[in-house]
Amino acid sequence: MRYLLFLTFCLSFFACKKGSTLPLETQEIEVAKERFRESYRPQYHFTPPEKWMNDPNGLLYHNGTYHLFYQYYPEDIVWGPMHWGHATSTDLMAWEHKPIALYPDELGLIFSGSAVMDANNTSGLGTKDNPPMVAIFTYHLMAGEKAGRKDFQTQGIAYSLDEGDTWTKYEANPVIGNTDIKDFRDPKVMWHEASKQWVMALVAGDHVKFYNSPNLKSWTLASEFGKNQGAHGGVWECPDIFPLAVSGSQEQKWVLLVSMNPGAPNGGSGTQYFVGDFDGKQFTTTQKEAQWLDYGMDNYAGVTYNGLPDNKRTFIGWMSNWNYARDTPTEVWRSAMTLPRKLTLAKNKNAFHLKNYPIDTLNEYSYATITHDTMKHNMSLSSANFNEMRLDFTLPGVIDDFTVNFTNVEGNSLKVGYTKSSNNFFIDRRKSGKVAFEPSFAKEIHTAPAIQKNAKDVKFSIFMDASSIEFFVNDGETAMTDQIFPDIPFTAMTFTSKSQTIAPLKVSKVKRIWE
Ligand code: FRU
Repeated sequence: MRYLLFLTFCLSFFACKKGSTLPLETQEIEVAKERFRESYRPQYHFTPPEKWMNDPNGLLYHNGTYHLFYQYYPEDIVWGPMHWGHATSTDLMAWEHKPIALYPDELGLIFSGSAVMDANNTSGLGTKDNPPMVAIFTYHLMAGEKAGRKDFQTQGIAYSLDEGDTWTKYEANPVIGNTDIKDFRDPKVMWHEASKQWVMALVAGDHVKFYNSPNLKSWTLASEFGKNQGAHGGVWECPDIFPLAVSGSQEQKWVLLVSMNPGAPNGGSGTQYFVGDFDGKQFTTTQKEAQWLDYGMDNYAGVTYNGLPDNKRTFIGWMSNWNYARDTPTEVWRSAMTLPRKLTLAKNKNAFHLKNYPIDTLNEYSYATITHDTMKHNMSLSSANFNEMRLDFTLPGVIDDFTVNFTNVEGNSLKVGYTKSSNNFFIDRRKSGKVAFEPSFAKEIHTAPAIQKNAKDVKFSIFMDASSIEFFVNDGETAMTDQIFPDIPFTAMTFTSKSQTIAPLKVSKVKRIWE
């Protein structure tokens, strides 16, 4: 496919060169087809057209459009003065790149935050007939940081009266000032219907602070959470709080997401979650230990959409890790978002477990499925490119050791599987291609504890897209996300196992999102 497109490109290129016989429109289409075909460029994950990206920001669904804002530095492929980039979609898969939404100003760089529709114009920044879309973000004042002060992060707001196309900063920013909290950032705002007010979750180093507001402009501190709960191996970042129904019951709980860097289970950046109750002011839980949303090294700073109908919860994370985010071997742009994932809450006795799995729309993007009825020990499959596909399979019977090994003629190998003695799933990218750009990238095998023992008929899905693998067990009971940079695409896949067969195994292509 890749070569076919390359051929199409060459043909159209030469056609253009020698004063083409093709009509102009067709030429443009041919060239447009080649957009975003650089090596390692994901074909069905969101990436910026060029330059540096980190966290997803301002995830908001409004009027049939999903907005994705993101931490963006338009001048380089390493982190720099932060802007909010912007893209829109009608299905969360195919994206249209939009102009930069927010630029730094005299109060600072524009760090992470959220967006809401202020439908009742509580802020007065719009009108009743044309209510504002409001972005709530952190200002990071470089000069303050350089001077060794502790008050350089404050919270500001901006509004848009044209569906997010253009933005105006609120003239009385900041809306939350700071005196002495060094890490004070990443406001996630939501409308709390029961108490009819705005609620903000904001991180302050080692805990979350909750604020309330009637109008998005004046904020009152309501409570704090987390100094003695969860993991504290690094700084808390990018919180999110939302209600979620317990699957198969009438019960509703509140979930608090908190990203943390460093200190994740497999090193560097990761996202923990808490399940409890929230009354608009205070979050309470009996959970003491951290639970982790994803056990790979590359799912960070993820948050969920505001404004979705039917109490749905859709999550997007940044598919990288601060350990090596600036070192990965891409040249035009840097980093991608995870697939959009649906969050659901499972309950087993009194323990809650947050599941995350790609949204159903991925099924509409999957095509040309080939089903292999049985894969036995040592069986191999070949393909022109296992780096752009999706794999779904079930292991019949009680789970036992198995490995799926992706290889190519360059000797690269990427292994995914399960180890019974430790009851762990794993991804081993240590020999997966380019790995030497930073020591922690390929230091260890990444493992994830299985949440059941001796589980039966376990279901697996693997999504590979140029430079990433997302591995899911039982519809997101366990999730692992890792970046990979093979020298050339993987062309073989070998299944090895102690006692099992895979039946059936489905290999599907996934539609490219940029055409
Ligand atoms: C998380 C983070 C946020 C911050 C942003 C800066 O990755 O460190 O806490 O707002 O990135 O780009």
